[in-house]
Amino acid sequence: MADLGTYLMGLHLKNPIIVGASGLTNLPEGVEKAAHSGAGAIVLKSLFEEQILAMLGQEMDGLDINSYPDAEAFISRTAWEESTDEYLKLIDDSKKRVGDVPLIASINCVGPGNWASFAKRIEEAGANALELNIAYVPFSPHISGHEIENKVLSTVKEARQATKLPIMVKIGSNYSSLPNLVHGFSREGANAVVLFNRFFRFDFNLNTMRLSGVQPLSSENEYHESLRWVSILYKRAGIELVSSTGIHSAEAAIKCILAGASAVEVCSIIYQKGWKVIGSILEEMNSIIESIGYSSLDGLQGKLSAINAEKPEEYLRLQYIKALTGIY
Ligand SMILES: Cc1cc2nc3c(=O)[nH]c(=O)nc-3n(C[C@H](O)[C@H](O)[C@H](O)COP(=O)(O)O)c2cc1C
Repeated sequence: MADLGTYLMGLHLKNPIIVGASGLTNLPEGVEKAAHSGAGAIVLKSLFEEQILAMLGQEMDGLDINSYPDAEAFISRTAWEESTDEYLKLIDDSKKRVGDVPLIASINCVGPGNWASFAKRIEEAGANALELNIAYVPFSPHISGHEIENKVLSTVKEARQATKLPIMVKIGSNYSSLPNLVHGFSREGANAVVLFNRFFRFDFNLNTMRLSGVQPLSSENEYHESLRWVSILYKRAGIELVSSTGIHSAEAAIKCILAGASAVEVCSIIYQKGWKVIGSILEEMNSIIESIGYSSLDGLQGKLSAINAEKPEEYLRLQYIKALTGIY
């Protein structure tokens, strides 16, 4: 058997498959199932910044719900106040059920604020790390990319000041200079970055002439965006990298590791196939790794990253030109 163990943010993971934040991990029972299924680490469902602010007694007036693409429901203020205690209990209860599988708490936020102080409570409740899902969606034509990136960096800085836990920042791909931003995360004290979050998508219903939701789950060909940026950023941004979105198979997971990821997050494929899929992915990873002549992930991580490439330009425009001139 190949050794699938890996290190992420100083934590030892017995394998690189992390269950991503979602409704799968919003109860201790789900978290326990994730651990029993063989996950290398587990991210809890996110707590929203507003839930923390409500608990701290801060006004929620002016809440811009458009900024929260993966908000599942708008719930009452009282429920929000109570939900922070429930979240701490979720950490505590889950911790008792997962053995030595690292448990990562998650906060969905849009910018810096007093909510960051809650990171200390998360640490005290026993989480092994904190994932910050920074989900700011710019709505105004008067805010520059620079301002937004500064806001995102201040968010990381404040969380860093509030807790000693390892911090993993989860972002979407729409930033003008990802290498610069990701390097900034490392400067502000984050330990890893998750590339990428998959934001809620909407559609229009032509009968009702209203907005409608679309299938919230990813498809198996969505991992390429992560593959590209992990390949480009590996060893360049001073921070560990985790791939996310569209990882549905052992092959996709191994490709992301070859690009330079220390681990991968999976979510949709568990919704589609059930918890047993984690075991199947791990078995197949083992076969692939052995078939290409390796006995562990050492040596595989980053092997196909841009920094290790003979022709790094292929990771940029050249491949595109080749593809277009070849096909059309
Ligand atoms: C139903 C559902 C709920 C989710 N809830 C959260 C959440 O609370 N926090 C978060 O950071 N991501 C959340 N996500 C995003 C997933 O963690 C993940 O980043 C995304 O689904 C892409 O990975 P995948 O292609 O493996 O599904 C959710 C996704 C789904 C489908």
